[in-house]
Amino acid sequence: MLVVMKNDYQDVSREAARMVAAAVRSNPEIVLGLATGNTPLGLYNELIALYRTGSLDFSNTTSFNLDEYLGLPHSHPQSYHTFMDQNFFSHVNLPRQNIHIPDGTVTRDYEAYCAGYEASIKAAGGIDLQILGIGRNGHIGFNEPTSSLASRTRLKALSRETIEDARHLFASDSEMPNCAITMGIGTILDSRRILLLASGRSKAAAVAKAIEGPITSSVSASALQMHPDVTFIIDEEAAYSLTQRDYYRHVLEMTKIFTPERLS
Ligand code: GLP
Repeated sequence: MLVVMKNDYQDVSREAARMVAAAVRSNPEIVLGLATGNTPLGLYNELIALYRTGSLDFSNTTSFNLDEYLGLPHSHPQSYHTFMDQNFFSHVNLPRQNIHIPDGTVTRDYEAYCAGYEASIKAAGGIDLQILGIGRNGHIGFNEPTSSLASRTRLKALSRETIEDARHLFASDSEMPNCAITMGIGTILDSRRILLLASGRSKAAAVAKAIEGPITSSVSASALQMHPDVTFIIDEEAAYSLTQRDYYRHVLEMTKIFTPERLS
């Protein structure tokens, strides 16, 4: 596990974009796992800027999004379909047919639908690089606390904390979804490489538990400790509660010298 600490959100976004851009350049047919939420917005803006300057090409890239609210039509302003379209897809040349986002309009046979999503990931060769944010309760995707660490794509009931965090985005309580379709923790752990981004003091407790706490289903992101190639890119505020910050800086310096490819 690598912990890359940056001054602020802008630096987190730039560093993440540098790594994603390098990965896309070295493998134009890359399969990306994409996340929503405020945190990856800066990363998407940086990638869009690189695309506009002609230094990045997504024409052979495939993407799979982590999750989608259940019950929202794709056109709903708060759907993750709309989010991805407005904040990334409509600005780059990633082919429409290569984009995959769980369908929140499914109304039955959820298990079959979710198994199909898993099968599409497999058919694409698996996810090469998965981008993650983290919820205040340590969730990744919508894998709320106590999600099985071996879980696959499925229907998941949202926690009270997650509903509270997203409630302000919806016009009324009744419009706020209470379930989502999300890749499972097992699905995420199958990715070849993972970048988790976090910014701000509100994420400090979750980040510390994910990196330094015990592996537990109570903190879904702690499962990332079992992954061989995960990089946390976090700002000083999100790193606030980590006890081993000096050691992570030392590890990073040694990585630059001995295995710089891990940072490209
Ligand atoms: C939602 C998403 C997660 C995201 C989290 C944090 O729950 N399903 O993928 O990581 O929100 O969002 P933000 O980055 O806005 O704090």
